[in-house]
Amino acid sequence: MSIDNNNLKPLKSNELDDILKSLQTNDSVKSIEAKEPEKNYKEKEVSGKIEDAVKQVEDIFNFVSATEKIPLAEIKNNVIPTIQHAADAIPNFSHLFQELEMDDYTYRHNIGVGVIATLIGKWLNVSKDDLPTLTLAATLHDIGKTKIPLEILNKPGKLTSSEYALVKKHTIFGYELLSKTEGIGIETCLVALQHHEREDGRGYPFGLKSDKISYFSKIVAVADVFHAMSSDRAYHDSTPFYKVIKQMNEDVFGSFEPTILLTFLRSVMQSLVGEKVKLTNGKIGKIVMLNQFNVTMPLILVGSDIVDLSRNREIHIEKILS
Ligand SMILES: [Fe+2]
Repeated sequence: MSIDNNNLKPLKSNELDDILKSLQTNDSVKSIEAKEPEKNYKEKEVSGKIEDAVKQVEDIFNFVSATEKIPLAEIKNNVIPTIQHAADAIPNFSHLFQELEMDDYTYRHNIGVGVIATLIGKWLNVSKDDLPTLTLAATLHDIGKTKIPLEILNKPGKLTSSEYALVKKHTIFGYELLSKTEGIGIETCLVALQHHEREDGRGYPFGLKSDKISYFSKIVAVADVFHAMSSDRAYHDSTPFYKVIKQMNEDVFGSFEPTILLTFLRSVMQSLVGEKVKLTNGKIGKIVMLNQFNVTMPLILVGSDIVDLSRNREIHIEKILS
């Protein structure tokens, strides 16, 4: 298993857009316009592999559900290399999963979180030796959901309190499944257990505070929330990109580890510098610079004027156009 550590630069906006679009349901990053994919041999190869990986994750979840055994060799040999390949930023494999049914959300989500967490790990300079563990842990973070009935997982509308209590137990179920699997280390088990814990202790299952939560769990928490908010699900529509970014930024001192979240937000927003955007006031401009103190509110060149979104809080980026 090899990781190209030279490829650590942030994704360009079209690359991130295409990756996210291909990993989410129903064209769900609605604030970013679709671009004409430049199909070439490499892209088609990655597209096919990702599609295979989604099916493999579905098969693996069904297998775990029936046997309570985790086919680690299959995951390591087939699924993880595909996710690493995707995280190495091969662009334009969009439009891939748009035809898939909503039921596939769980499987696609695991791959999406695997890709995003791997990218965050690279941006944070997680070592070449540790990165495969992060990818594995992120991909299996929700494996405990195999023990939750699908009618609850896919239930439209609000869960009852007893249903929600059961869903929250996927963290403990995941930890139990992984910890009894030979060849899986404690880091991977902890991510399954702790990815819903929050820095301020308001998470679950134990309400742990920052210093008791593992580093990889903190990375996966950011990737998980970003992917979940950006996706259509049984119980909510996707949130537009800028709102996801804005909302996560507002949580910077509370839910998430600040360094991890700020690195993620900065890398995503940095990749958008130079892009043409439509603002919520109808004006068209170009992102020219990030605001040092709030990366989610960059400086926009509109005509010959610079609009600093941090000083114009009522204006947001509605769409990325270019
Ligand atoms: Fe989860």
